[in-house]
Amino acid sequence: MTVATREGYLALCQELIEHDRRYYVEAAPTISDVEYDRMTVRLRELEAAHPDWVVPWSPTRRVGHEPVGAFAKVVRERPMLSLDNTYDEDDLRAFHDRVVKGLDGEAPSFSIEPKIDGFGIELTYQAGELTLAATRGDGTIGEDVTTNVRTIRAIPTRLREPVDIVVRGEIYMAKEVFLRINAERVAAGEEPWKNPRNLAAGSIKLLDPRDVAKRPMSAILYEVVDGERYANGHLASLELIRNLGIPTSTDNARAEGWDALAAAVQSWADRRDALPYELDGLVVKVDDFGQRRALGTTSKFPRWAIAYKFPARQVTTLVKEIELNVGRTGAVTPVAILEPVEVSGTTVQRVSLHNWDQVARLDIGDGDRVLIEKAGEIIPQVLGVTERAATPRWTAPAVCPSCGAALEKEADKVVLACSNRLGCPAQRLAAIEFFAARGLMNIDGLGERIVAQLVEAGLVGDVADLFDLTAAQLEGLDRFAAQSARNLVASIQQAREKATFSRLLAALGIAHVGGVVARPIAGKFGSLSKLLAAADATTSDELVAQLTEIEGIGEVIARAVDRFVRDPHARAVMDKLIARGVDPVEPVAAPATGPLAGKTLVVTGTLSKPRGEVQAAIEAAGGKVGGSVTKKTDYLVAGADTGKTKLDAAAKHGVAVIDEAALAALLAGDAT
Ligand code: IVH
Repeated sequence: MTVATREGYLALCQELIEHDRRYYVEAAPTISDVEYDRMTVRLRELEAAHPDWVVPWSPTRRVGHEPVGAFAKVVRERPMLSLDNTYDEDDLRAFHDRVVKGLDGEAPSFSIEPKIDGFGIELTYQAGELTLAATRGDGTIGEDVTTNVRTIRAIPTRLREPVDIVVRGEIYMAKEVFLRINAERVAAGEEPWKNPRNLAAGSIKLLDPRDVAKRPMSAILYEVVDGERYANGHLASLELIRNLGIPTSTDNARAEGWDALAAAVQSWADRRDALPYELDGLVVKVDDFGQRRALGTTSKFPRWAIAYKFPARQVTTLVKEIELNVGRTGAVTPVAILEPVEVSGTTVQRVSLHNWDQVARLDIGDGDRVLIEKAGEIIPQVLGVTERAATPRWTAPAVCPSCGAALEKEADKVVLACSNRLGCPAQRLAAIEFFAARGLMNIDGLGERIVAQLVEAGLVGDVADLFDLTAAQLEGLDRFAAQSARNLVASIQQAREKATFSRLLAALGIAHVGGVVARPIAGKFGSLSKLLAAADATTSDELVAQLTEIEGIGEVIARAVDRFVRDPHARAVMDKLIARGVDPVEPVAAPATGPLAGKTLVVTGTLSKPRGEVQAAIEAAGGKVGGSVTKKTDYLVAGADTGKTKLDAAAKHGVAVIDEAALAALLAGDAT
């Protein structure tokens, strides 16, 4: 397929939409992210070269660049009704019986669907193209949020067939995304969003589509307007839109008769938490469109459907006290200790209040009654105080509860932190725990409780002391039998042997230095002793300059590393580690293998396959793909209509020019 024609361009758009469908609707992608990105790059190149080719449904046009001033109103002919609610099996039985009676004793087939707690939306497709996305509004009048909805990649901008169809559903934010956005808000000192629904609703109403695109949302469609035009039954109509490329729930079920309906609803009891989105219940609908018509609607609700709401997940309980938790970085976090209470299936007795601004906002004190719920059904949070006790209100402490050192507030941050670093017992404990963690030094069997025990017994004061532990010392402690003592010592020794410098560096807990940042730093310096030697031989500014030379390392990270290696306490611990043989090297990445290992190729002109595919094949064979022809280039792969500039550059640098057939031979390992 050549893509330097308009037909090729359109085919590439279509192909990318098909990959979106496989990814977002079927959850079964057939190409890698890298290949997908390459195809997108190619599409952008084509659009830049041929602006007159661009179609509005192109995958590159999802995010518009113009903020809107306000959303236009949309008046709909068929109002978006809401649903009557039921809360228990008796109510559901009453609904079932009403339906059967309304159908003169006919037993209907029901669909049972998750009731996603998101934001209602109606999508209009004309000749297969998305032309309107409107909010529910008051049911009849909604708002045109098309530009924002286009940023949601689960929603196709073009269907697989050029049909006219209107579908309704829910836009939602996955629990995981919700928790991440909230964590960022809390870190920035802002009030967290109460639930994914509010966040999704707030996001879809942002005026600038570029801001909307930063809040990844998804969608599930659950009704086809005038469904009887497309199918006899509701579930069949959903299958039809799914085949057109529209995301529908894969959890919809069918039930005939009361027993099957009750069993289907029951089966949801434990599945709720496993879904990636928040669920506030189920929707039970009559499947057959003829039966739906016979049942009709009241002024507010259809008589053929009902929402079955799950039990509330908000509960109240008493605050026993507020604990001050000192973390690894010294941050002093307020944690409410609660009278234990069941929420969403687990017992909650501690809930983080995040920071002291939040404590002030809540105006909270010991003995208060508070309303709690699990945000995204995972992390419990306090929504507010429902009854205040006659006790003093909590305010931010002035000194560290562990060591008594003064607390400091970092500029523009809401976090209060103990300034005593590893001189603070609580930070030391957290640092040792962190050092041993999975993915860092990987010391099996060294959890929070054991670390506390070792520190209390005076056996361990810093991470280096771990490497002096003997089985005989451990056996003297509570809960340590001879075997478990030997196991812990063995896993500590093993951690020393298996460590790499980058994991050690990340395990030291330097601010801003996680696993990803540690790798290039470790690659440059080679080992901890070499990094310290470099620090000894330089001033702070010189070391920072060396660090910022590394790709991906900026001033903030460099300063944090410099500060850490020059901190006397940290330095003493690092010297102790090295003295105990904990000074691993960083393995050098294995050189690429394959017939093109060590070769750089530039690909240009029109080839028989998309360029991304050719480039991927070169990389799979160990080669590197360059953007321009330089003296480092080994081959120029020239397709039809290769430009003169590239050929001249190849001649100038003595680069071999080869065609696709010659490339195929190289890829197959035949030397040329
Ligand atoms: S059917 C007339 N199906 O719940 C049929 N609604 O309380 C109306 N919802 O406004 C909607 N999941 O925003 C239907 N599978 C589902 C749903 C669902 C969530 C929302 C929807 C609706 C509200 C009704």
